[in-house]
Amino acid sequence: MSSLKNRKVIVTGAADGIGRAIALAFGKEGALVAGCSRGSEGLESLGKEIEGSGHLFFSADLSKAEGIQAFFDKVRESFGGIDVLVNNVGAVLKLGNFFEVSDEDWENSFQLNLMSAVRLCRLSIPFLRESSCARIINISSIAASHPQEIFPHYSAMKAGLSNLTVSLAQTLDDICVNSVSPGPVWSRSWEEEAKAQENEISFEQAKKNIMEQTGKNIPLKRMGVPEDLTGLVLFLASEKSAWITATNFTIDGGLTRNPF
Ligand SMILES: NC(=O)c1ccc[n+]([C@@H]2O[C@H](COP(=O)([O-])OP(=O)(O)OC[C@H]3O[C@@H](n4cnc5c(N)ncnc54)[C@H](OP(=O)(O)O)[C@@H]3O)[C@@H](O)[C@H]2O)c1
Repeated sequence: MSSLKNRKVIVTGAADGIGRAIALAFGKEGALVAGCSRGSEGLESLGKEIEGSGHLFFSADLSKAEGIQAFFDKVRESFGGIDVLVNNVGAVLKLGNFFEVSDEDWENSFQLNLMSAVRLCRLSIPFLRESSCARIINISSIAASHPQEIFPHYSAMKAGLSNLTVSLAQTLDDICVNSVSPGPVWSRSWEEEAKAQENEISFEQAKKNIMEQTGKNIPLKRMGVPEDLTGLVLFLASEKSAWITATNFTIDGGLTRNPF
């Protein structure tokens, strides 16, 4: 996919998990990556691992308007343009059923999972419009269409993100806007779940149990890994996806079994 060479790509939540795999994959294609997360350690290690030069890594809290503005100002200053925006940052933040999540939990989820994308789209669109191959890719979740009792706030925000993807695609006739909805992908939140069981069993055993249990219901019989997402994201960022917009792509090993 050489069409990605020298493309300027923003990846939010780039230090870990899916965002990191996406950033590394763009690096391999010769793209210039602007990655953001709160902590600097993960970004530093990403900076050492990613191929190519001229990338930008910036620490900011993307659940806050000021953090987004600071990151965006740095991208504009360093890159001068943007071709691809990958709104990847997001998290469940708190597990709990409807009665266990507070107004504050809903607000935090809204700011991180939905407003981060709204704000970055708003800032980036004027620059994307200057690109000959502009793309917005929103990392949503199968929770958008298959909400879970244990994170109603997260599911609702991801539904909002998938919904925003389509309305934005209708507003823009010069930028392809699509969403990608992963199923269960082994990453930090799953690691934390395994760590929480460490007083009873070892981390490795807990990880194995979670992976086996979760994989059972998946037609391909395994959980995803962050790298499973990269082929689709690179395709959606490339010239090959020029007539694809307002579309959600499920990538879940077949878990949701949705034929339409
Ligand atoms: N993993 C799954 O099973 C799964 C399934 C469906 C959808 N998704 C979606 O896929 C996306 C990536 O998930 P993941 O599981 O790969 O996440 P992850 O492993 O938890 O990584 C999240 C990344 O985002 C950064 N981050 C978190 N909060 C941030 C904030 N407020 N400001 C800036 N950066 C922040 C983290 O770094 P810092 O902590 O240093 O900030 C980290 O780099 C999310 O949108 C998630 O909802 C994941």
